Amino acid sequence: MRLGVNIDHVATLREARKIKEPDPVQIVGLVEMAGGDGIVCHLREDRRHLQDRDLELLRQVVKTHLNLEMAATPEMVEIACRVGPDMVTLVPEKREEVTTEGGLDVVKFREHIQETITTLKNSGIVTSLFIDPDLEQIKTARNLGADFVELHTGEYANAESEHQSQQELEQIRSMAVAASKLGLRVSAGHGLNHFNVSQIARIPEIEELNIGHSLIGRAVFVGISEAVRTMKELIAQAREQR
Ligand code: PXP
Repeated sequence: MRLGVNIDHVATLREARKIKEPDPVQIVGLVEMAGGDGIVCHLREDRRHLQDRDLELLRQVVKTHLNLEMAATPEMVEIACRVGPDMVTLVPEKREEVTTEGGLDVVKFREHIQETITTLKNSGIVTSLFIDPDLEQIKTARNLGADFVELHTGEYANAESEHQSQQELEQIRSMAVAASKLGLRVSAGHGLNHFNVSQIARIPEIEELNIGHSLIGRAVFVGISEAVRTMKELIAQAREQR
């Protein structure tokens, strides 16, 4: 199972001072040397953390896999086609939100998303849709020609009881199976950390996890190499035990 490391929060810290450090580009080598399989970043419309310059440099520096999260806007599509990440993950975006809240509603916005997927694919970019673990969303993602669905694990991660957590886990598990049967490739992410990752990592149909906040948070105490290395170990152990 691959681990994509979201590095946005390095830029969040830099933007707190609006100076040049810490530079999100500098963390890439450490993440890759520690076993990270890819770098994930989100260029937001309001540029609250990552900047255009970061994305351009990341494209030059990342040796593994670069996954750009973005809203399906004309500005972002133009940037993606010019910079050429390996993958684009389409996400919903609201200015007032603290982080991405819930999956993209691909049923509601199907025509627009279809057009966006076609443009990205014509530029040779693999496409992923960040959606809630919901059958209608998955079927629509398949019909729109997405390569991947990234199942939103936020409800699982934020569950307030063991019962709710197990219900959310079951939903993610069954939707991962459904997506895979439809021929979609499956990843998952949002809110995952060293404590809740193992149950998700045991789901065979999920081939990649994308994790940001908890890794950068832990890195403050132990360093990013240790944070990535121990996360990879937990994921590998969970895969062996399933
Ligand atoms: N996947 C997607 C689509 C996201 O938008 C985010 C947050 O940027 C993540 C994964 C990572 O979530 P977290 O930072 O909670 O690990």
